[in-house]
Amino acid sequence: MYTGPTSTTQGITLERHILERQLSIPGATGDFTGLFQQIALAAKLINSRVRSAGLAGVLGLTGDTNVQGEEVTKLDIFANNVLVRSVEAGGHLCVMASEENEGIIPIPDRFATGKYVLMFDPLDGSSNIDVDINIGTIFSIHRRLTTGRHGGEADCLQRGASQVAAGYVIYGSSTVLVYTAGQGVHGFTLDPAVGEFFLSHENIRIPTKGKIYSVNEGNTYLWSEGVRRWVEGMKTPGPDGKPYSARYVGSLVADFHRTLLKGGVFAYPADQKNPQGKLRLLYEAAPMAMLAEAAGGAASEGSRRVMEVVPTSLHQRVPLYIGSSEDVAAAERLLRET
Ligand code: AHG
Ligand code: MN
Ligand code: MN
Repeated sequence: MYTGPTSTTQGITLERHILERQLSIPGATGDFTGLFQQIALAAKLINSRVRSAGLAGVLGLTGDTNVQGEEVTKLDIFANNVLVRSVEAGGHLCVMASEENEGIIPIPDRFATGKYVLMFDPLDGSSNIDVDINIGTIFSIHRRLTTGRHGGEADCLQRGASQVAAGYVIYGSSTVLVYTAGQGVHGFTLDPAVGEFFLSHENIRIPTKGKIYSVNEGNTYLWSEGVRRWVEGMKTPGPDGKPYSARYVGSLVADFHRTLLKGGVFAYPADQKNPQGKLRLLYEAAPMAMLAEAAGGAASEGSRRVMEVVPTSLHQRVPLYIGSSEDVAAAERLLRET
């Protein structure tokens, strides 16, 4: 479990951390470092707007619905535009996809293109904005598959296991960016006075078993017998005489961040209303799955790794059980038995 910064991690910026890792990879071009700098810049810009959302009068709905048929808030649109504008000109990407855009987002002709693919949920947990509860941004990076100047949908429809990096930013009591590029999971806290992300959570490991379960139990009436029995089991005192504690924020980023640091399990199961689950595979479940696995945890869609699910459409949904490896395995076992 994370125990706090040490003298060896103090003062290391996100930029330096990524650069140092890149220098250790023979043949690395600096593309990845450049892309990350732009994502970090977008995170700071979104953070600044989130922190002043009430004052800036941007709370509330635009009155539109997005491609998922959900209400779109003004901050969703702002965050989406900031991310696109921050990364499109860098020459590192060939194509993007976002929760807020029905189709792929091409790189405009006036900019150079590169070898990476970026997918994101610009503002996660947006129903929590107006009530001052934590929200976030999630991102997933792949290497492109196609050739030619521009990338296409085929570059986006890759398994989670092919991601080269994934991460999120939580706009919480502090703003923290957590990422993995395969070698460990690292968290950086934004110092608002300096405007830099500093290494604060080096090499995060999820405890193998936790004490918290996180699921929207209001959906019980929509669940299968297996899901109901799994949640009942969480509420039944174990050998230590205690049941699991319930925590549910309703922002995947916040629920996952807690699960990553404290252990336990977060789930958004398939149900009668959402037979494929609610969360989106490419820019919600897959990046969180990469982070969970890189931290020693697990992510399952019920019977197999989320990382193995082959996407067929950009906004495809997937059931998600994620967190401590023993807790995810226990959920899989019960789902299989019923
Ligand atoms: P978004 O705000 O990007 O649409 O995502 C909301 C998601 C996710 O953050 C959260 O885990 C889940 O919706 C909560 O759903 P319920 O309100 O159905 O519990
Ligand atoms: Mn989301
Ligand atoms: Mn969103």
